[in-house]
Amino acid sequence: MTKNTITGVIGSGAMGAGIAQVAAMAGNPVVLYDNNKEALGRAEKSLTNTLQKLQEKGKIASARDILERFTFADNISELAGCGLIIEAIVERLDIKKAVFAEVEKLAGADCVLATNTSSLSVTSIAAACQNPERVIGLHFFNPAPLMALVEIIPAIQTRAELAEEARELMLAWGKTPVIAKDTPGFIVNRVARPFYGEALRIYEEGIADMVTIDWAMTENGFRMGPFALMDYIGHDVNYVVTETVFQSFFYDPRYKPSFSQKRLLEAGWLGRKTGKGFYNYSDGYPMSEPKKDIDLAVQIFERILAMLINEAIEALYLNVASAGDLEIAMTKGVNYPKGLLQWCNEWGTAACLAKLDSLYHEYHEDRYRASTLLRKQAIGNKKIV
Ligand SMILES: NC(=O)c1ccc[n+]([C@@H]2O[C@H](COP(=O)([O-])OP(=O)(O)OC[C@H]3O[C@@H](n4cnc5c(N)ncnc54)[C@H](O)[C@@H]3O)[C@@H](O)[C@H]2O)c1
Repeated sequence: MTKNTITGVIGSGAMGAGIAQVAAMAGNPVVLYDNNKEALGRAEKSLTNTLQKLQEKGKIASARDILERFTFADNISELAGCGLIIEAIVERLDIKKAVFAEVEKLAGADCVLATNTSSLSVTSIAAACQNPERVIGLHFFNPAPLMALVEIIPAIQTRAELAEEARELMLAWGKTPVIAKDTPGFIVNRVARPFYGEALRIYEEGIADMVTIDWAMTENGFRMGPFALMDYIGHDVNYVVTETVFQSFFYDPRYKPSFSQKRLLEAGWLGRKTGKGFYNYSDGYPMSEPKKDIDLAVQIFERILAMLINEAIEALYLNVASAGDLEIAMTKGVNYPKGLLQWCNEWGTAACLAKLDSLYHEYHEDRYRASTLLRKQAIGNKKIV
C-alpha cells in the first residue's frame, strides 16, 4: 500500500467521509461508497465545503485538485479496482460480515480489507472472508482529519506483515499509528472506561455532584470533565461502548455500566446534540457552581486516576499494546495531559497501589483489584517501565 493505492471507503457518514478526506489529502485516489444516495450526497457536499474552507485558510493549495481524486459511488462494484478498502458502516456485526463477504468477491486478490469498528472483534469480521489474512482493523478517531491517532488491530488470522504495512501507510497519511491486540475496546476505548465509570460511581454514591467531579478533573489537567465529555460524545455512543466492553469482557465488574447513564439514553437525553444530557444546554439555563473543596478534589481525582492507571497497567501486563503505544494512544486519542504509565511512575507505584487497595478494602468489590504488574512493581516502589 502506497500513496498511489486506490482507496475505497465504505460508508460516507461521519467517520467514512473523514477517512476519505484524510486519504485524498495524502494523495490517494478515493472511491467513497454508500448504499444510501442521500448520505453520499451529504458527504460530497460537506467534503466540498470543508476542502474549500481549508483552501481559504491557506492550509491546502487547491480544493479542486483534492476533490478530483474522489469518485462518489452508490454501487459497490465501483470498489473493484481498489488496493485498500476501509469499511466505516453501521456498528453491527451481521451487517459488517455481509459487506466483507460481498466486497471480497469483487476486490482483487491483493486488496487489503480494513474495518474501522470501535467495539467489534476484528477476528469475527475477518472470519466472514475466504481470505481472512488480508483483513485488519484501522480504528480512526472522530473527527478523523483532526485526530492523529489510528489504532491498528491485526486479527488472529491477519498475515504477519500487514500490520507493519498499514503502519507505514498511516505514517504516510500523517497519522500516529499504534498497534493493539484484538481485545475489547482495543486501547483507548478500554483504558479510558474508568474516566466515565468511576466518575459515575462517585456521583451515584453522592460523594460529589457532577459539576464538582468535572471541576476536580479539569483542575488536574484533563481538558474536559467526565460528565461534560460524556454529554459531548453522546450517551448513545458512550453508553453503548461501555455496555459492549462490559459484555465482551464476560461481565468483569471493572467495566460495569451505570444506571444514571442508561436512564439518560432511555429518555433520549443524549447530551449536547439533543440539548440535554447530564447538563442542560438550553440558552440561558444556569450552570451550577462546583464545590471548590481542595480535599474533595484530591479524593475524586486520585480515585479516578488510580483506576485509569490500573487499566493501562493491566493492558500492558496482558500485552494489549507496548508501553510506548499505550502512552501515545491516551495522549493522542483522548488528549490526556500525560501518559498513564508516566503518571504512575511520577505518583509512585506504591502510592497508586495503596489508593487501589484502600478502595478494595472499603468496598470489597473485584472492580478495585489492582493489576498483578502494579502489585509487583510497588514492592520497593519500582517504576512500571
Ligand atoms: N462516530 C465515532 O465517533 C466513531 C469513532 C471511531 C469509529 N467509529 C466506527 O465507525 C463506523 C461508522 O461510524 P459513523 O459514526 O461514521 O456512522 P454513521 O452512521 O455516521 O455512518 C454510517 C454510514 O454507513 C452507511 N451504511 C450503512 N450500512 C451500509 C451498507 N451495508 N453498505 C454501505 N453503506 C452503509 C450509512 O448510509 C451511513 O452513511 C462504526 O463502525 C463506528 O463504530 C465511529
